[in-house]
Amino acid sequence: MGQLEGKVAVVTGAASGIGKATAALMAAEGARVLAADINEQELAGVVSAINAAGAEASACHVDITDEAQVATMIHAAVTRYGRLDILHSNAHTGQDDDINVVSNSRDVWDRVLAGTLYGVVYGCKYGVPAMLATGGGSIINMSSNAYLGGDVVRVAYAAAKSAVNAVTQYTATAFGKQGIRCNAIAPGVLVTPPVLKLFRPGVQEIIAEHVLAPRMGEPEDGARLAVFLASDAASFINGQIISCDGGLNAHLGAVPELLRLMTSA
Ligand SMILES: NC(=O)c1ccc[n+]([C@@H]2O[C@H](COP(=O)([O-])OP(=O)(O)OC[C@H]3O[C@@H](n4cnc5c(N)ncnc54)[C@H](O)[C@@H]3O)[C@@H](O)[C@H]2O)c1
Repeated sequence: MGQLEGKVAVVTGAASGIGKATAALMAAEGARVLAADINEQELAGVVSAINAAGAEASACHVDITDEAQVATMIHAAVTRYGRLDILHSNAHTGQDDDINVVSNSRDVWDRVLAGTLYGVVYGCKYGVPAMLATGGGSIINMSSNAYLGGDVVRVAYAAAKSAVNAVTQYTATAFGKQGIRCNAIAPGVLVTPPVLKLFRPGVQEIIAEHVLAPRMGEPEDGARLAVFLASDAASFINGQIISCDGGLNAHLGAVPELLRLMTSA
């Protein structure tokens, strides 16, 4: 018996990376999964692979920046599968011109907030009532460890993820007594297509040095945490922002340099 047997899940951003791994693992754990993405071609392949493995999933085209489309996606899950127990708001649209507070135009801020924050907001807005109709459910928003400290790029992304954390805690607070759990996953670096694009020579080695594990993070690390948060095993976990970073942000910044000095002495 799978951890999510009998449950219905919606996963956004299911055509790639963490969302793809999560849709597959949730289905393998017994959930009926509405896999949603803006990229219909890639999504079709993901759904076919899940079905070929004997699990239940179907595809839903969605642009998470469009409130009406998110409402339609939630409605599609309930119409197709009869209920909604799990919503993983994972999709986001990256913006290459999101740099710092001086260089970012208002247009950059608007695009980043739409692609990173508003999809999560719309998910909660339409997901909560759908879940309340059958006594509650689990919402898992996708945050990022970017909120933990400053970086030289992606100020709007980090601000939007901080807002995702606030929306997560406020949703848990407003609806927890009615059976809604709302948590967020904050990945450090999980190797997915957009992360691979950032790996110029040397970058991966620097990150690997700071990860407190003998390997890099993978999309499946995020998927396993999402399945746990979706499952009844997490029934007393609510309003939490949970890192999935292999300890990347759990140590003092200078530790790798200090270790090098100590071992070379
Ligand atoms: N991979 C990491 O290391 C990492 C780190 C921190 C946070 N995250 C977060 O994890 C989530 C997934 O990241 P990933 O690395 O798997 O990315 P990815 O690019 O591999 O997957 C993102 C998916 O979202 C879809 N998408 C983009 N815009 C959309 C829209 N408007 N509507 C619907 N779907 C849309 C894309 O088509 C794609 O399939 C994101 O929220 C990201 O911010 C990832």
